[in-house]
Amino acid sequence: MRVLGIETSCDETAVAIVEAPAGTGPVGRILANVVYSQLTEHRRFGGVVPEIAARAHLERLDGLVIEALAEAGLGLADLDGIAATGGPGLIGGVLVGVMTGKALAFAHDKPFLAINHLEGHALSVRLTEQVDFPYLLLLASGGHCQLLTVRGPGDFARLGTTIDDAAGECFDKTAKLLGLGFPGGPAVEKAAVGGDPQRFALPRPMWRKPGCDFSFSGLKTAVRQTIEKLPPNDPRAVADLCASFQRTVGDVLADRCGNALTLAPSPTLVVAGGVAANVYLRGRLETLAASHGARLVAPPIKLCTDNGAMIAWAGVERLRLGLTDALDFRPRPRWPLDPGAGVGAAVRV
Ligand code: KG4
Ligand code: ZN
Repeated sequence: MRVLGIETSCDETAVAIVEAPAGTGPVGRILANVVYSQLTEHRRFGGVVPEIAARAHLERLDGLVIEALAEAGLGLADLDGIAATGGPGLIGGVLVGVMTGKALAFAHDKPFLAINHLEGHALSVRLTEQVDFPYLLLLASGGHCQLLTVRGPGDFARLGTTIDDAAGECFDKTAKLLGLGFPGGPAVEKAAVGGDPQRFALPRPMWRKPGCDFSFSGLKTAVRQTIEKLPPNDPRAVADLCASFQRTVGDVLADRCGNALTLAPSPTLVVAGGVAANVYLRGRLETLAASHGARLVAPPIKLCTDNGAMIAWAGVERLRLGLTDALDFRPRPRWPLDPGAGVGAAVRV
């Protein structure tokens, strides 16, 4: 089975084609994976501008579909389905991806699959790693920070979520305040190399509190206040602050994941989403998982940030179960993975 996946929910225009093994198990093969990062379009604004993003998706997407097919050496007739991110995300971009996906599916008489972007991240680990359902997932990206039990495609139980900002957003804000550029996560990680992680004591919201919810707004404020007091032109201080910030985020994520592993024991802890690209944080979670007798599994770094392969793979998982979508599917700016879960509603430790 081969599925083409389209991702346009934020600032990456991405198309991929993946091939799945027979059955319903993990580990597929990536036949093509092309990503156009709209960094230059948004950099001077210090963040993603939705209208610019939507236009850039529109200009690039057709060309990327052609490029992906050429890379895979396939024609549209060789595909078994067309998947596109159907939300949540910046609605202009989602519309571009969904309309393109529907048009390709209609013109070539293929099943269409509208993929929840978060489900794309949540299942992405199974594209490359031997991971079976159910597993515990920390999904940490620019817009989300949540802990979930993943029982299968479309079957999630949320244990906790952020009550304010996402972890990735906190990285982006820190980088912006320090003038490190955009996107912030990789910039902070790079700047932290060689820094002293103990120099700055920053608050750890929710640390050692019951449950699995997160909070990052207090940390964001503390970082801003610390930066205001930093001596000018002091690269040492910047490195120390980035290292201290990263360590603090690591403390919080490990603490929350520890509670989740106690509440919903699982032999596998998966981390996915852009923040999962952070090597230091992966290390922290690896140590934590081991202390609970579990193993940490993460997608390859390249597949942590937004990409088409995770959308194509989620398409595979759904197509195998016959979970296709009609061509009147309406893009969704908001689309929770577990619609029944509220903030703080999770079981308490
Ligand atoms: O999953 P993603 O590509 O897009 C969303 O769905 O939001 O995640 C992007 C987020 C950004 O906030 C970015 O700064 C963060 O992931 N990120 C990182 C790293 N790489 C990307 N955060 C920490 N360390 C990284 N290496
Ligand atoms: Zn994402």
